[in-house]
Amino acid sequence: MGFPRVRMRRLRRTQAIREMVREVRLHPSNLMYPIFIDEKAKAPVPIESMPGYSRLPIQSVIEEARQVVEQGVKAVLLFGVPSAKDEAGSAAYASDGVVQKAVKRLKNEFGEELAIATDVCLCEYTTHGHCGVLKNGVVVNDSTLEILRKIAVSHAQAGADMVAPSGMMDGQVRAIREALDDAGFNHVGIMAYSAKYASCFYGPFRDAVECAPKFGDRRGYQMDYGNAREALREMELDINEGADVLMVKPALAYLDIINQAKSRFNVPIAAYNVSGEYAMVKAAAKVGWINEKAAVLEFLTAIKRAGADLIITYFAKDAKLWLTK
Ligand code: PBG
Repeated sequence: MGFPRVRMRRLRRTQAIREMVREVRLHPSNLMYPIFIDEKAKAPVPIESMPGYSRLPIQSVIEEARQVVEQGVKAVLLFGVPSAKDEAGSAAYASDGVVQKAVKRLKNEFGEELAIATDVCLCEYTTHGHCGVLKNGVVVNDSTLEILRKIAVSHAQAGADMVAPSGMMDGQVRAIREALDDAGFNHVGIMAYSAKYASCFYGPFRDAVECAPKFGDRRGYQMDYGNAREALREMELDINEGADVLMVKPALAYLDIINQAKSRFNVPIAAYNVSGEYAMVKAAAKVGWINEKAAVLEFLTAIKRAGADLIITYFAKDAKLWLTK
């Protein structure tokens, strides 16, 4: 049967009918909010390329998380900006490092009310800004793994629920799983940045946490955006290495990857709606070229419709604004 017996517009006639047949709905509990903690800051440091978003001093982290929890959001992802960097990023695994201190405070304050994930990478901690240790200007994979193990264990010791390795080193999930298990943290999960592309959309983030590479770029370890099958292979490897959650990053230009991940793998799929994606919406809204609320809702719903179970987004802090009428 077709037209005129079939009329698709019947189910679009009223708001109530449209809501009744809606397939995908956003919920704040599927959002995760990134927080950048700056060890040197005395007050929040606004980030110019991310309007409405700041780097925070450790003292502000509880208040910030409180505001996020009040939005119905249950999870945060922590990044640190240390007061001192070195060649090997040793501040990343200091027991009194910036992220470790923040995790302790948050765990103390919120207990099981808040899921705490931590970014496990070296780029914010190295003087050269690369995601691993260097030899002759090249990031050395296997020596970097040794440092990633230490970082993950130090985060777990501080109380992290989940660690999120983002450096795209081969074998990083396996190395971290082993290290966590050996140290008595078999309950701590791994959210693997499995399909992380070398993307221009990380620009604002790199300004924010001062982690732009001092020379070269990250194409020697992050993925080429021309590739899709490679992303599936990365994800398959990470599942076999023990990842609990797989992430695709960025989100908006990679909905096809999110979609394929969802249909292939039976683990939760996370998508990272990155800093550049946030900045574009904010910039266009600021000059009045798009409606911010409408754009955020449409984008986040599309990411979920593509297959993301969990969305990491800087917009999460305004979840109530987006999700209530
Ligand atoms: C660090 C890291 C980056 C982001 C998250 N973890 C930057 C990069 O890989 O250069 C980007 C986050 C964003 O842009 O919002 N490895």
